[in-house]
Amino acid sequence: MDLPLSLLPVSDSVVLETPGVLRQIARAHRALGELKGAAGTIPNELILIDTLALQEAKDSSAIENIITTDDELYQGDSASGKFPNAAAKEVHNYVAALKTGFERVRRQQFLRLDDVLSIQAALEENRAGLRKLPGTVLKNQQTGEVVYQPPQDPADIERLMSNFLEYFHRNEPDAPDPLVRMAVLHYQFESIHPFYDGNGRTGRILNLLHLVLHGLLDLPVLYLSRYIVRHKTDYYRGLQAVRESAAWESWVLFMLRAVEETSVETLGKVRGIRALMRETKQRMRRDLPKIYSQDLLNNLFRHPYTKIEFLERDLDVSRPTAVRYLGELEKAGLVRKTKLGRTNYYVNEALVAILGG
Ligand SMILES: Nc1ncnc2c1ncn2[C@@H]1O[C@H](COP(=O)(O)OP(=O)(O)O)[C@@H](O)[C@H]1O
Ligand SMILES: [Mg+2]
Repeated sequence: MDLPLSLLPVSDSVVLETPGVLRQIARAHRALGELKGAAGTIPNELILIDTLALQEAKDSSAIENIITTDDELYQGDSASGKFPNAAAKEVHNYVAALKTGFERVRRQQFLRLDDVLSIQAALEENRAGLRKLPGTVLKNQQTGEVVYQPPQDPADIERLMSNFLEYFHRNEPDAPDPLVRMAVLHYQFESIHPFYDGNGRTGRILNLLHLVLHGLLDLPVLYLSRYIVRHKTDYYRGLQAVRESAAWESWVLFMLRAVEETSVETLGKVRGIRALMRETKQRMRRDLPKIYSQDLLNNLFRHPYTKIEFLERDLDVSRPTAVRYLGELEKAGLVRKTKLGRTNYYVNEALVAILGG
């Protein structure tokens, strides 16, 4: 039988910040700090949010076996509510949920239970709220064996969630490092498992919001789920080992390595996007001076697969003008035209390569 889940903080008898953890904290912070700085140099923040958050959403969903290709993903459009399939829709819902959470945290400098519920609601398109009915269990992915029964009593779930949110905002000097707290919080959230579904994805959104709340990132652009999906077995095993044998050190190290590795990778992408934007801008000014505008450039970077409707909407131009712009961009070799379904897309291939690479 599982022991009841403890409230946070983690018991004093556990040393969270071992020498190994302290070394890894320093490395993770260095990488994350560089990413934060680089992200601030991209003029239009929506470019990074839309492109990088979509990648994060794709991998975080892949952890839950919601799999999409680039073509499917980029055909999805939340503004018009059109998606090529259910998986693409779920990934776009994820981005919407992340943005909702981010906007609230940035505005309020605070996260309430209601915000967490809104994130889950945006993700799942339902308002099921916290679990009220018993029966939820966690199973081993391979064997189907039940590995853990999260709290079942709604009163326990509520109490654990308010304790979770208290710890989420904690920042006293004697508290553990914020990156360690993020690892602790992720374990705790997944162990409370407050929802019928969407716990994994909501929990991974909360990781990024925690970084934003504590000033470690200005934008929720860290591609953290890429590491988790690559080391999925270790991720599940790590969560379970905290429960079964209080294996905090290896769990915290796992999350810190995830932060370091994906900060370095995301930094590479941000720099790549910045260089590509600069180069594309120069080519447009030289080869297409009549149609060049910053808005047009931004459009090609916010929508790696752009289309006539996106130009009409973002640039407020007529359809014939949008058609002409895209034709000229294609002739200049800046985008490649491709037909998906019945729609022509104009793909910024160099950008897609950076994002997926
Ligand atoms: N043994 C475990 N202990 C704690 N959490 C776990 C364990 N196994 C899986 N999880 C968490 O549960 C998540 C899956 O829960 P689920 O509600 O189905 O999320 P989603 O709907 O986003 O798929 C995993 O991503 C992981 O974070
Ligand atoms: Mg699920």
